[in-house]
Amino acid sequence: MKKNILVTCAFPYSNGPIHLGHILEHIQADIWVKYQRLLGNNVYFMSSDDSHGTAVLLKSKELNINIKNMIYENFISHKNQFFKFNIIHDIYYNTNSKYNKLFLINLIKKCNKNNLLYIKNILQYYDIKKKIFLPDRYLIGICPKCKSNNQYGDNCNICGGFYNSLNLLKPKSIISNSIPILRNSKNLFLNITRFKNNILDWLKNIKLNECILNQLINFLSTDNLFDWNISRDKPYFGFRIPSNIINEKYFYVWFDALLGYISLFYKFCIKNNNKILFYNFWNLNSNYEIYNFIGKDVLYFHGILWPCILEIFNYRKPTNIIVHGHILVNNIKMSKSYGNFITICKWLNYFDSDSLRYYFASLLSSNVCDINFCFRNFINKINSDLVNKFVNIASRNSTFLENKFNNILSNKLWDYKFYYLFLNKKNKINDLYLNFNYSKILLEINILFDIVNKYINDNKPWYFFNNNFNKLHMFCTTIINIFRVISIYLYPIIPNIIKKVEIYLNEVLSWDSLNNILLNHKLSKYNVLYSKIFYNNVFDLNK
Ligand code: MF3
Ligand code: ZN
Repeated sequence: MKKNILVTCAFPYSNGPIHLGHILEHIQADIWVKYQRLLGNNVYFMSSDDSHGTAVLLKSKELNINIKNMIYENFISHKNQFFKFNIIHDIYYNTNSKYNKLFLINLIKKCNKNNLLYIKNILQYYDIKKKIFLPDRYLIGICPKCKSNNQYGDNCNICGGFYNSLNLLKPKSIISNSIPILRNSKNLFLNITRFKNNILDWLKNIKLNECILNQLINFLSTDNLFDWNISRDKPYFGFRIPSNIINEKYFYVWFDALLGYISLFYKFCIKNNNKILFYNFWNLNSNYEIYNFIGKDVLYFHGILWPCILEIFNYRKPTNIIVHGHILVNNIKMSKSYGNFITICKWLNYFDSDSLRYYFASLLSSNVCDINFCFRNFINKINSDLVNKFVNIASRNSTFLENKFNNILSNKLWDYKFYYLFLNKKNKINDLYLNFNYSKILLEINILFDIVNKYINDNKPWYFFNNNFNKLHMFCTTIINIFRVISIYLYPIIPNIIKKVEIYLNEVLSWDSLNNILLNHKLSKYNVLYSKIFYNNVFDLNK
């Protein structure tokens, strides 16, 4: 039976270009989406810009442009950049939207009805130079848990701890480099501690990665779980909190960003005249599936706060949350100040998207490891795996087929046993895709590349010419069929290259294509499928 699946990626902020880190997450999700579609399942792929908060506000001030114009321009350019990467969301918008506001008002009504909101006076860091309350990510200091230097105000990159910014040691403001002072202000809190057991129940019933599960259980311990401050002081950019609740405050960006997963899907359904689809996904008894792809730095938001929002709405919770590590460039955190910041626009000026998809896939597994982009390693891998091993399989046979057999495949294979060696990997590859273990898929496939290339070398088809023409025909047909099986395995990872393979094979591939062998079939003229990529000093940040 066809499955119905909603896949989301975390929303990039409206304040800058799409970079390697964003694309890593979207590639991880898109490979899975394309695999599910290859199987014939129904997938809705959704993301959005995240348009509120201090970072967006400060950026518009820095650029001296109207904030709404900036949001719109980024929205158009982000969408376009993903598109150029062959990542096509069914739904992509921004969170400063009518529907998001509607759902927010609704959520607040529900909170009020259930007595979940209260006002409390708290101390917060304030930057006197910039005259602004400092969000957690604008504070840097020493982690109160493991004492590592240079950690953000909300969580630590080293020990993964999540804490209140008031506990950060030696705090400094990132925007002015000054030492912030503490100021008192009234804030609006959402009682989430009361949902602890609901979250635990959900966690017990889903197939989360074990290390992520432990981290979430740790977040839920009495020492670590606090009610959520959902308000922010001005200057801020976001939705205003109604004044009958609290005066002159805005909703915290994360509150309406998470809500965006629901409201944007609603907008999509309304636009497509399909409100029913919305309830099919979100109702409590839904057996449709929802997967959220995120980075490990936003785990607390997605593993704790997101299910609380769903609980308040009485909606179902995600089927799974897929978490990846940080992106590193040459083993250090990617950042403009280190000079190793790579935007997608720049990337596409020099390289194609499939090469990066392949490279990231070779590093991604179901474990939450940091992903290191190393330029030389990238070049070597692409040339060795894709050009020398993969494309070579087809190109070395295509000449025979074209010159001697008019590009028509024989009506039998030369070696069925050998062919089944490749086909029989089908279940294993399927399993690895379903478990997000792409690096293992590529290890398996590289073994297959080596086996088939060695088989060609050992059998020396170029000698059959004179003595066994028929054998040559069946031999090449066998190899092309093996190439076809491997191409199906690779389709979700390198879709552009495999589209060229489809043109060559003269057929549209799907997972079901593995059920038949291509015989007596006319191929198209062979065109180069992919060629060597070259060293380029723009990206060699080690130079
Ligand atoms: N904008 C956030 C970030 O880049 C991610 C928001 S994900 C959402 O860290 F679900 F809240 F939208
Ligand atoms: Zn720490």
